[in-house]
Amino acid sequence: MTSVSLVGPGDEPIVLGVTTPATQVRVPTTRRYLMCPPAYFTVEYSINPWMDPTQPISTSLAMEQWTALKETYERLGHKVDVIDPEPGLPDMVFAANSGTVIDGQVLGSRFRAPQRAAEADHFRRWFLANGYRSVVMPSRTNEAEGDFVWTGKYLLAGTGFRTDPQAHSEAQEVLGVPVISLHLTDPRYYHLDVALFVLADDLIAYYPDAFSPGTRQVLRRLFPNAITTTAEDAACLGLNAVSDGRHVILPLEATALADQVARHGFEPVFVDISELRKSGGGPKCCTMELRD
Ligand code: ARG
Repeated sequence: MTSVSLVGPGDEPIVLGVTTPATQVRVPTTRRYLMCPPAYFTVEYSINPWMDPTQPISTSLAMEQWTALKETYERLGHKVDVIDPEPGLPDMVFAANSGTVIDGQVLGSRFRAPQRAAEADHFRRWFLANGYRSVVMPSRTNEAEGDFVWTGKYLLAGTGFRTDPQAHSEAQEVLGVPVISLHLTDPRYYHLDVALFVLADDLIAYYPDAFSPGTRQVLRRLFPNAITTTAEDAACLGLNAVSDGRHVILPLEATALADQVARHGFEPVFVDISELRKSGGGPKCCTMELRD
């Protein structure tokens, strides 16, 4: 911590800066992700305000953008596993919604919308076929990493639009981690992972206006040094970002957020997710982290 003080006109000290975060060296750790190619991606129903079934969608452009995201992870040294997409499940590309894995323990998902319900079982079978020995399916609505964000210490758990608050205690019991419930209030930010992300163990970024007043207080208490973002950065789904501890993969429109993370010593890596955003998704939605 360094601080710079000057003396102002009335001899009162003016504090210019309390930290120089960019001097902190950020170290990436190798991750393992599960992704699902958007081979059957469309917007044919609407379950969030981003989805307009009358707007044109290019499945091939979605596939190009998804492939570029996957190749970005691989270029950064991460391992990406791929699950086969299923016809008739256009949102299956949003793999984050289908499981929460911590220390090899899997908590599957249970979707609120009937249109997505069948995705949960495809992922359950993938986990069983890929060596996961403990796979628990939830009894309450639980949209997995859409609403569950693991900080390394706490499981931040969103509710308000999708995940049932009772799924929070179910997650605590199954995963054996402390759960902190957070209330989302803006329908555009219907999942926690479009309003908040973890940069490193000690640092998160979030959009305060997406949360209830009490939740904002909780976030300020727990993360007094958090990065808070502008409405513009939230509105391009900039908070749907993925950090490996050094590189932060985020939508290319999130320029102010990119500057903020760079000032904290991270390296922003831009991806174009314009086509997937038409369904309300970004880089993180397409990415389930397998914490084995
Ligand atoms: N169209 C999908 C839905 O409304 C988008 C899901 C985005 N996923 C996420 N992790 N936020 O369910």
